[in-house]
Amino acid sequence: MKKRPVLKPLLTVMIMSLCYLSAGCSARPIDTGPESDIKEDDLVVVGFSQVGSESYWRNVNTESMKSVFTRENGYRLIFEDAQQKQTNQITAIRSFIQREVDYIVLAPVVETGWDTVLSEAKEAGIPVIIVDRKVDVSDDSLFTCWVGSDFELEGKLVCMWMSKFFNLKGIDPNEIHIADIQGTLGSSAQIGRTKGFDDMASLYGWNVAAHEEGEFTKSKGKEAMSEILKKHGNVNVVYCENDSEALGAIEVLEASGRKCGSDILKGETMIVSFDGFNEDARAAVAAGKISCIGECNPMHGPRVESIIRKLEAGEKAEKYQYVTEGIFSDTDLIPTVMISGQERSVTVITERDL
Ligand code: AHR
Repeated sequence: MKKRPVLKPLLTVMIMSLCYLSAGCSARPIDTGPESDIKEDDLVVVGFSQVGSESYWRNVNTESMKSVFTRENGYRLIFEDAQQKQTNQITAIRSFIQREVDYIVLAPVVETGWDTVLSEAKEAGIPVIIVDRKVDVSDDSLFTCWVGSDFELEGKLVCMWMSKFFNLKGIDPNEIHIADIQGTLGSSAQIGRTKGFDDMASLYGWNVAAHEEGEFTKSKGKEAMSEILKKHGNVNVVYCENDSEALGAIEVLEASGRKCGSDILKGETMIVSFDGFNEDARAAVAAGKISCIGECNPMHGPRVESIIRKLEAGEKAEKYQYVTEGIFSDTDLIPTVMISGQERSVTVITERDL
């Protein structure tokens, strides 16, 4: 691995603070000087391969990463947008290796197919941090650690919320005709949310009408919803694997004359979704068009940065770091949801919160 002073701007500040205190002075903010004083060689170089910009969530996530890996914080970020293609990510990782970056951060589009390129990174002595979705590799020493969401738990929590809601409203499981608009096939977010859905639908005895792929985008969400309506007109609940798909599905349902809402006994179509960090989706909750959103938190920038700080300090990072997430809903009927010993609170979104 290439030699570089450890997060030097930060270290300088710490040493100067110590000297100042040991000289008997009281603590005061240290002037680190103008940004231009930070030397190129002192920066920690981070190569980040991002999935793409398929969803609102992804854009917030990209901003979160860019906002922490700044020159002022002691970093040089090389950002590569893979446009949802694993081959682009593999090319990006190889270019990071050639450029001898200090860390590789990978938000993988799908789980499999990473063994070779991650072995190359390991060979080059570059630590790899996986963020958001996971990688499925034969040897887990190919990456240093992972931080992200428990997607299966998210799926189960949303299904548990629905089941509680149906019970409260006296809706028999037999009356539920539910379709799943899936995310990018093979991604952890899709694998986990689909599994959570399938397991819970079979546990509760709901009629699963269809699984259609929506690739986590609004346009594919629309196409998937149109297909579902063509083939399964009796669908009264749509489980969308992210907010972008949900907003697309709502457009199609409304254009077909349907009303989106929780009152399925009166002919409304219930929409549930994941993410919760987009204004339009939150407005759709406040308007009662999306009944429930399983939170998927995109603010991974500070989490990844604190991992790198630990590694720079010679400490070990926990291998798997799960983010705790809640639920958003249009109703206060269900204040909490609990599954596998994990209790999550339900935050109500109203017009006032927008
Ligand atoms: O991997 C996280 C998922 O990817 C988010 O739910 C989705 O919106 C994004 O595209």
